[in-house]
Amino acid sequence: MKVFTRNAALSDELKRHPGTCGFVPTMGALHNGHLSLVEQCRRECDTVVVSIFVNPTQFNDPNDLKNYPRTVEADLALLEKAGADFALTPSVEDIYPEKDTRVFDFGLLDKVMEGAHRPGHFNGVAQVVSRLFDIVRCDKAYFGEKDFQQIAVIRELVRQCDYPLQIVACPIVRDTDGLALSSRNALLTPAHRAAAPLIYKALKEGVESARSMSVDEMKRRVVERIDADPLLQVEYFEVVNADTLEGIDRWSDTFPMRGCIAVQAGNVRLIDNIAIL
Ligand code: PAJ
Repeated sequence: MKVFTRNAALSDELKRHPGTCGFVPTMGALHNGHLSLVEQCRRECDTVVVSIFVNPTQFNDPNDLKNYPRTVEADLALLEKAGADFALTPSVEDIYPEKDTRVFDFGLLDKVMEGAHRPGHFNGVAQVVSRLFDIVRCDKAYFGEKDFQQIAVIRELVRQCDYPLQIVACPIVRDTDGLALSSRNALLTPAHRAAAPLIYKALKEGVESARSMSVDEMKRRVVERIDADPLLQVEYFEVVNADTLEGIDRWSDTFPMRGCIAVQAGNVRLIDNIAIL
């Protein structure tokens, strides 16, 4: 695996590699969730590119940016093992030679849920992902359903900017106790880590009982179940049309539905989601 710190050097290298190019953008502190994307990319593409860049423009909370785990050396070893061909670890100056002032409008997609609770977050995600797509002119880009809303926003970015690439959505990888893997899990206290599996447990119970009650009743029960633990506090739990992210008030047989949640666990904010059948 070759490691590039400069965008231009990677762009030049990629010109010498015909065949399909797959790309996995990350912010590092890699775990098996990230690696599942890299492995799927390896199976489906001739060239596998992974970026590690903690993007300042998508952090609405300066403390979150400061505390975000950074483990580049370990990350590179994991990427090598997972079969990546090229890793990009650029500096902030290289990604943003000047301040990125672009303002995107993704309609409802970046206004609800994470968009409502993390102002500017998706605009920052769109800025960095579009910069990265310009550098790595990939055929396929891999994203995890862990960040369900992010995929919807990026699909819309691709549509608006006409990027000739395919977005591949990959399933959520969980720990054995059900907690969705996240770089932020490393920041949980042992007590909060022990409490956190309740999030997925409550989501699963909600899905299992969904059709026997109204949408509102199911939402209320999931929130109550999690909030009953003093270490966890639900920020939102929405049941949405999985394509449009519009909130729904009755179960549908015609479009896919998703339950999306954000929970504060001490100083750490966790998100998760589940398909509703
Ligand atoms: P990051 O949080 O590092 O995640 C990188 C990719 O890994 C995202 O597509 C995310 O959805 C996926 N991922 C994280 N945890 C996962 C899990 N448990 N199972 C499956 N996939 C998982 O998302 C970002 O970085 C940034 O916003 C980025 C797109 C890189 C732009 O800065």
